[in-house]
Amino acid sequence: DDTKAGVKGLIDAGITSLPKIFIRPADELVEELNLGRSQARVPVIDLSGIESDDQHKRIVSELRRASEEWGFFQVVNHGIPESVLDGMIDGICKFHEQDTELKKEYYSRDQLRKVRYESNIDLYRSRAANWRDSLTINLLACNEVEPDELPPVCRSTAIDYVYHVTELGGTLFDLLSEALGMKMDNLRAMECARGRTFVCHYYPACPEPDLTLGVNKHTDPAFLTILLQDQIGGLQFFHDNQWTDVSPIPGGLVVNIADLLQIVSNDKFKSVEHRVLANRIGPRMSVACFFIGVAVPEKIYGPVKELISDKNPSLYREFTVREYINNFFSRSIDKSGLDHFKI
Ligand code: SIN
Ligand code: FE2
Repeated sequence: DDTKAGVKGLIDAGITSLPKIFIRPADELVEELNLGRSQARVPVIDLSGIESDDQHKRIVSELRRASEEWGFFQVVNHGIPESVLDGMIDGICKFHEQDTELKKEYYSRDQLRKVRYESNIDLYRSRAANWRDSLTINLLACNEVEPDELPPVCRSTAIDYVYHVTELGGTLFDLLSEALGMKMDNLRAMECARGRTFVCHYYPACPEPDLTLGVNKHTDPAFLTILLQDQIGGLQFFHDNQWTDVSPIPGGLVVNIADLLQIVSNDKFKSVEHRVLANRIGPRMSVACFFIGVAVPEKIYGPVKELISDKNPSLYREFTVREYINNFFSRSIDKSGLDHFKI
């Protein structure tokens, strides 16, 4: 029953050293120590003026470059009011900091549950547990949130945020289609923006941050991720063989290319490894919106035909959504989500 109090429950109970299951294996700690720290800055793309032809062109070309060379970027002037962003973070804080008894109602390890609260979905497959708790909201086939299913403390703020991020996602898919040299609504027509999973993280302050991670390195199992983070920091992505900070920008949103977009783009766009450091300071909060496409088991994905030629042969075989999901649940998150589908 203790697990239902989450990582936060450990801190509330007053622990001052890290329980063993959270400690990263020694080989990993040594390997990480030997890596340099990068000063590189993740690209920041200003979406203002998107209605005018020349700004639209600039934005598409910046998105193309960021998606090909970095896999990660931040967007500003994206049209989502700061009050909506702040409201979402505040609601997530309230959810995680409410009475454990109230949170327990949402505790579940059943992946099919629409709204659930948990820690460490891949606990039995991973090398160590992650220092965070998460509230997941799955919006698979439906376009609307069913308000009754959302926890009351974050209900209205989550509804606002879901609406705005869904709109922004649609816009980004149109721009990314163009950046790939395809017809403007191609990715939208593939319904990339349809199913969305919102994962709302809470990373408590950690007594021994050098021995564990908020989340260990992984790529995202989706087409695209839009991430809202608070101002604490700790997110890093792997670039030029070094870990690079994604420093928070007030009002900004982080966007990263995920595995399925790397596959459909036939490796033109890169799904890049990232992780979150544990921190003595906390809590840190973030909300990841994964655009996961359509949850129809028989649906087939693979590189887009338009992007394949004799000179540019397909790097991945076609596969069904069922196969993709089964692969995801049979590996730990730090194993590649791409290898299994490579030709
Ligand atoms: C994740 O990639 O799983 C979370 C990212 C974040 O919290 O910044
Ligand atoms: Fe991620």
